[in-house]
Amino acid sequence: MRTDRISDFIHCVHADIETTDLFEGIWPIPQGVSLNAYAVRGEKIALIDLFRDWSDAAGQIGGGLASEGLDFSLVDYLILNHLEPDHSGWLREFRERNPRAEIIATAKGINLVKSFYKIEDSLRTVKNGDTLDLGGGKILTFFEVPNIHWPETMVTWEPLSGTLFSCDAFGSFGALGNRIFDDEFTPEEHDFFEKETLRYYANIVASFSTFVERGMQKLADLPIKVVAPSHGMVWRKNPQTILDRYRRYASYAKGPGEKEIAVIWGSMYGNTKLGVDAVVRGIEAAGVPYSIHRVPDENISWVLADAYKSGGLVLAMPTYEYAVFPPMAYVIDIFRRKHITGKTVLRIGSWGWVGGAKKEYQAAIEGLSWTSVDSLEWAGAPGPEDLVALEAAGRKLAEAVRNR
Ligand code: FEO
Repeated sequence: MRTDRISDFIHCVHADIETTDLFEGIWPIPQGVSLNAYAVRGEKIALIDLFRDWSDAAGQIGGGLASEGLDFSLVDYLILNHLEPDHSGWLREFRERNPRAEIIATAKGINLVKSFYKIEDSLRTVKNGDTLDLGGGKILTFFEVPNIHWPETMVTWEPLSGTLFSCDAFGSFGALGNRIFDDEFTPEEHDFFEKETLRYYANIVASFSTFVERGMQKLADLPIKVVAPSHGMVWRKNPQTILDRYRRYASYAKGPGEKEIAVIWGSMYGNTKLGVDAVVRGIEAAGVPYSIHRVPDENISWVLADAYKSGGLVLAMPTYEYAVFPPMAYVIDIFRRKHITGKTVLRIGSWGWVGGAKKEYQAAIEGLSWTSVDSLEWAGAPGPEDLVALEAAGRKLAEAVRNR
């Protein structure tokens, strides 16, 4: 079992989770995810972040610690930056193996230790700027970064190595295999992880983008040399890459996003699909990049990632039982819950006996601050005039996205 040394006194141990389970019970992880923990050795030993016992994470991380002559029973301080169970689910088992270790978290984190795990002893509450002296000159500092993405979240800073243990912040989906540092992956692998970082951000963190910006401001003066998150690769060669990436992702929540369009559509018998094809011809004629997603065939996780980053959306839905086609109603509901705001949007759709989708759609998007390019409907199959109007609407949307 390999461990990875960030410095001679900081060891990264990670578990690759490869499972058909959904992350948070919602998000598919077909290429897995890593759970990272970090052992910091002074005269005392701290373990930063735990894991849930998932895909034998306990065996993987326990084996990594053993390869460095460590064991859960040798840990003096267990630092829990964040209490979501992917980083704390094994806490009772840890406590059984190590009754003496002090568990360190923010006040809200300690409340979760008590409520989730019914542990009451050897708990230490820390607040912003507090330090933990491990001896031998190794001193950890804690910074509260609430709502990235749970209220109790903090990060841990180690100044000698310049390592920021950032928990979920700067994380990614994707298992790591036998490597963990950014300079160990190929450009193609970085392309993969960039996509998985965006999907992770859009799925898990995007709702809290204001807090991401606030947290990054709080940490701006730290001379960060290594970004060590709890999911995904450790950035030691180009830490600025992941910091910039998260800053850009956070900006999508308020700004127009990239000059791209996400086309999201559902169709019962192909009539709405004919409209989508016409819209896409218009977008292509204008030369604006687009992604295309059919629901319910495609999982919302990928739909959300492209919609979050794109400045423009096409939402295409037939009327179904006098209302929005249910898979598209789900998409819009997720967009509302995830605060996919500020987009330029074209809505289209076919109806059979009578419309109804438009009315429900307009009520559903209230509060999202979307700019509507048009909302086009037609009866049955689109006729020649409909197709001309749809293609023109696609072009108009593309030009609006390009010129924002
Ligand atoms: Fe990776 Fe919010 O837990």
